[in-house]
Amino acid sequence: MSLNSLEEIAQFIVAEGKGILAADESNPTCGKRFDSIGVESTEENRRDYREMLFRSLGMKNNIGGVILFDETIRQRAKDGTPLIELINNQGALPGIKVDKGLEPLQESPEESLTQGLEGLDERCREYEKIGARFAKWRAVIRIGESIPSQSCIDKNMQALADYAKIVQKNKMVPIVEPEVLMDGDHSIERCFEVSRSTLSSLFNCLDKNSINIKGTLLKPSMVTSGSKAGIKADIDEVAELTLKCLKENVPNNLPGITFLSGGQSDVEATAHLDAMNKIGGFEWKLSFSYGRALQQPALKAWLGKEENIKDAQRALSHRALMNRKAAQGLWDLSLESN
Ligand code: 13P
Repeated sequence: MSLNSLEEIAQFIVAEGKGILAADESNPTCGKRFDSIGVESTEENRRDYREMLFRSLGMKNNIGGVILFDETIRQRAKDGTPLIELINNQGALPGIKVDKGLEPLQESPEESLTQGLEGLDERCREYEKIGARFAKWRAVIRIGESIPSQSCIDKNMQALADYAKIVQKNKMVPIVEPEVLMDGDHSIERCFEVSRSTLSSLFNCLDKNSINIKGTLLKPSMVTSGSKAGIKADIDEVAELTLKCLKENVPNNLPGITFLSGGQSDVEATAHLDAMNKIGGFEWKLSFSYGRALQQPALKAWLGKEENIKDAQRALSHRALMNRKAAQGLWDLSLESN
């Protein structure tokens, strides 16, 4: 694909309702997912699972980018084809998770700071040579009684801006992912406040670091009630408050916002995205970069068995199509049973 600039790469990934398949689970996280279906997390099983996903028919037209883990970007399919070639053949771009996970903050151990800036320039140079066109870094903000602290937010957002600078220098599009965790019993209003402080700090840091916003994608969490909240906000409330938060803090020239699913069910994540696109009134593309919400039904159908591959691929294809429709505001619950 001849995409020559960061702007072109970013626009391509979210063109015409397309979104991102997040398949960048680290080996321990992949282990947890495989535990849930009783499959051992070996290098070969991880390869087989991801090869199955990337060969799904529904990748085409619905998925514009796939985020990979270091192991996967170097792997080959059973027949020897590099996995990134399978992705390219589906009309999607390969990307790479470059952060190295979380470390507790010394002054506030309940909170964390994402690691991975050391040696990042060199790693990016290699990933770009292998074929990655974009990168991802996840910052995590936890809500609790007296957290998050402003200092935790600012440190994490500065790290995202420092990462973005290095990634753009290496000709890849940075996905900046500030995840406000759903864990907890907080209200949707509290999630709104924390999301607002986080996004405001993020765009401040990106601006100070002179990041090319047109060559950047934002991967935020939606504004929702905590997963253990007594009263759960409904779809319309989630859509309205998420959009309000984004409209107040995200510049219009950002090409795309691709949400994470963060523990929402697959249909819930689709319904929220669709509701926001039906409301409209923004210039960015509003799309998806789901991990669990795209993969869960496929994982459950697969169970590590070759005879289940077709069913698992159908499950992924269906979710990919449903989410593309949602990214265009064209989804409806009745489509789920077709
Ligand atoms: P979920 O959609 O499962 O939250 O995963 C997206 C992701 O890439 C988290 O970093």
